[in-house]
Amino acid sequence: MCGIVGISSRTEFSSRVLLTRLKRLEYRGYDSYGFRLGATTFKSVGGIRVAAGGRGRLGIAHTRWATHGGVSERNAHPHLSCDGRIAVVHNGIIENHEELRRELARKGHRFAGETDSEVIAHLIEEGLRHGPMPRVLADLFRRLVGTFAVLVTVEGQEEMYAMKRDSPLVLGVGGGRTYVASDIYAFSDATDRAMFFENDEFAVIRADDYRFFDKRGKPVAKRAFRFSRERETRPRSGSGHHMLREIREEPEAVERLLFSLGHDQRKAFDALIGLIRRSRKVIFASCGTSYHASLLGSYFLHRAGVECQTLIASEFRHFADVDPDTLVIALSQSGETMDVIDALKYAAGKGGRIAALVNVPHSTVQRMSRLTLNILAGREICVASTKAFISQAVLLLMIARRFGFRVDATDIPDKIRAVLRRRAALKAIAVEIAQSRDLYIIGRGLTYPVARETALKIKETSYIHAEGMMGGELKHGTLALIEEGTPVISLINNSDPDIISNTREVEARGAKTFIITNNPALRREKAAISIATGNDGKFGILAAVAGQLIAYYAAASLGRPIDKPRNLAKSVTVK
Ligand code: F6R
Repeated sequence: MCGIVGISSRTEFSSRVLLTRLKRLEYRGYDSYGFRLGATTFKSVGGIRVAAGGRGRLGIAHTRWATHGGVSERNAHPHLSCDGRIAVVHNGIIENHEELRRELARKGHRFAGETDSEVIAHLIEEGLRHGPMPRVLADLFRRLVGTFAVLVTVEGQEEMYAMKRDSPLVLGVGGGRTYVASDIYAFSDATDRAMFFENDEFAVIRADDYRFFDKRGKPVAKRAFRFSRERETRPRSGSGHHMLREIREEPEAVERLLFSLGHDQRKAFDALIGLIRRSRKVIFASCGTSYHASLLGSYFLHRAGVECQTLIASEFRHFADVDPDTLVIALSQSGETMDVIDALKYAAGKGGRIAALVNVPHSTVQRMSRLTLNILAGREICVASTKAFISQAVLLLMIARRFGFRVDATDIPDKIRAVLRRRAALKAIAVEIAQSRDLYIIGRGLTYPVARETALKIKETSYIHAEGMMGGELKHGTLALIEEGTPVISLINNSDPDIISNTREVEARGAKTFIITNNPALRREKAAISIATGNDGKFGILAAVAGQLIAYYAAASLGRPIDKPRNLAKSVTVK
């Protein structure tokens, strides 16, 4: 996945302005970046440094997560035509790029790098020899196979051009400027008016004038919609890792969500409850951390007597039986994860009803859904998702509550604050487990999804092999791996005798156990962290916060990059 942003302005602006916008998209990719502003082209490997260098009234920028071609300056965007006049930034994948490259090379085009995106700049250069830009763009829709959101500028021209197919692209207007970006966060602090590109549409943009066209070049009428500016919390200021800051933002994020469910999201909340009631089948579709939140949601809903199923989105079509009476609920922080989008396309094709719980407003998943609730966690910059998980879990708990699950949610923010105050004890566990190569986290029922989520957080931030599993599965094989000193974190809800007995089982084989529990009777166990809360589901959420802190401190003690773990992008949508 990559992020793109363009600005067309009545007045001149500096690269600092453009890069500040790009920085807001950094979670979409961060191995290299670049921009074209006026006559200045800049490319660099590494994270975005917001520094001055160039001025102009028209600028496009790109932050990259490499898929085709290694991480290098020449593969960073923007890509230029042979004469250097045409600059292109692209988010997506051009599947037929090799064939196009061969064809263009035969016509004499020289390529500077190895990316699939570069062919777009050369195709445009070639096309402009035969006709005007709108016709060239209409032709590109015919020639390009794959997914793309593309911004183009041409030296000496005052227009910026934008086009999209299956990669997100949104236009914002305000204050004498027009912005085009991969998501609304790029400009949500600067304007509250936006409009989305639909597939196979392009736009010609000039300062605060913009015109949309379909792929044949026929004008398309669009109305801007208004969104509330910066509903998100601003990221906390100060130095340090985003991951820790975002964990610390959890209490306010939950407060904001709980408030909104009773106010601005009340109608949508009621509508979702109605939709669940009217559906014969409910299936959650999600990936990674969002999948673990869905699992927790399934637990809550089952306890409230609602039959539902949770599927990993990439396996959805193999395991789901969708019909018009089925409600598919997508859970996605970004709302742009391709596996989730594919699952929804599949469900829609079978006539299923679609709802979504998302964090990024107006995302693709939201736009594919009949009904959406926003988890309102605010911008999540760290690649490892933390506060979004907590907000997703709280929202699912609140849904279950409407079906009779008995829980008082009002004290969740304060209880999270109490867990955050236990950081010294959690850090001590973290430092100890950071020394191990393998680690197991066990849970049952309420704590099974939390065990898996804690393991995922540890894996992606510390690079330690961690397995989160059902305590009951130990005896079916994994117990063979428990030996003297193997660390096992056991998540014990209340006085669940089964997970207590699993804990004793691994201890009998020499495991070094760390217990996280809400059971006061276990408080005196060695290495136990006790969390004061009852047997009403909240322990699952609070234990997840403890797991996030353990993961964070383990990674910090190992000196890992934390906010940008290796081999992971914020969401696995498209390049
Ligand atoms: C892990 C993480 C990923 C995401 C997954 C789904 O910390 O962030 O596992 O949860 O890629 O992303 P969304 O929720 O944006 O669909």
